[in-house]
Amino acid sequence: MGGVRSAFEGRRVCVTGGAGFIGGHLVDALLALGASVRVIDDLSNSTLEHLSELIELEPKRVRFFHGSILEPRAMREAVEGAAIVFHLAAMGSVPRSIEDPARAWDVNATGTLRVLEAARAAKCERVVYSASSSAYGDNERLPLRESDPPRPVSPYAATKLAGEHLCRAWSESYAISTMSLRYFNVFGPRQPADSAYAAVVAAFIRRVASGAAPVIFGDGEQSRDFTFVSNAVAANLLAAASKREPRGEVVNIGTGDRVTLNALAARVIEHFGARDLTPEHQPVRAGDVRHSQADLSRARELLDYRPITTFADGLTETIDWFDLASSRAGDNA
Ligand SMILES: NC(=O)c1ccc[n+]([C@@H]2O[C@H](COP(=O)([O-])OP(=O)(O)OC[C@H]3O[C@@H](n4cnc5c(N)ncnc54)[C@H](O)[C@@H]3O)[C@@H](O)[C@H]2O)c1
Repeated sequence: MGGVRSAFEGRRVCVTGGAGFIGGHLVDALLALGASVRVIDDLSNSTLEHLSELIELEPKRVRFFHGSILEPRAMREAVEGAAIVFHLAAMGSVPRSIEDPARAWDVNATGTLRVLEAARAAKCERVVYSASSSAYGDNERLPLRESDPPRPVSPYAATKLAGEHLCRAWSESYAISTMSLRYFNVFGPRQPADSAYAAVVAAFIRRVASGAAPVIFGDGEQSRDFTFVSNAVAANLLAAASKREPRGEVVNIGTGDRVTLNALAARVIEHFGARDLTPEHQPVRAGDVRHSQADLSRARELLDYRPITTFADGLTETIDWFDLASSRAGDNA
């Protein structure tokens, strides 16, 4: 990652959704590489907790704009002078998008258009877009390649796919470089664990830590390419620093492996020594896909990307973080 530093040292960048889970980790990395970071977030799915700590540490290099990417004025201010825009703001959940598909469209598709327009007006060099492996839908041939036809099976997936198309079209039509990073199930410290929309790794850890059985939707034999958050962050840095001038390419970002939900639950249960817990099975949720696993050939070729943290190490780090966070919360109670 050493060569990447020169791409960020002393430069201004913008992170949409930077108060969120992946965004917060990306802001950490950008600050460590010497960038000045502007964050725009409406805090609809996050709090200012982590960002406030960063602002306290680096008051001159972090600036927070509380607003929506759908507001042209807020976006204009957030991207002013930024060389790179990392676009992560989104309504990021399949079940939530099924409940409110119009809102998912507004934030994820129209919102991406607004981000691209603001970046173009401000003459930003590049937009790195957080896309989603959900675009593949239920594709039986694994691992999933970017050349496979997309088949979204939820409003979330369709809106995130629309964002990819917008990025490509903007690179074809205007002088702006874009790249879409299709993440596969990202997990790690600070991921929200308590809402009905929580991602599965965080939800399992939180439940097992509190002595409750993990809840699995379906038979648990569905599988995912669980990707530790440091890998998604590294991919963003590589995409932003790439000298190849991306023009809307779509690139898988995962680990290249897959783990079933039953195996994930067993590992979490094992970690907590809670062998008396048996996962509770509930009906399959609409919009969920059966299997997912990334082919990383294009990521290697275009970005020299290789996963830097394995699933097993990432899981241990995540469990340790949740343990520490809950013992801190206990101390403060
Ligand atoms: N976590 C994953 O497994 C995963 C997988 C594939 C793709 N992604 C994509 O990565 C990105 C980040 O995901 P995350 O897991 O960190 O989710 P997150 O919800 O923690 O982060 C998204 C942030 O965007 C903010 N936001 C939502 N609507 C906004 C709006 N209109 N204006 C400004 N800010 C707004 C939220 O408050 C939140 O802070 C999203 O684009 C998501 O679709 C995530």
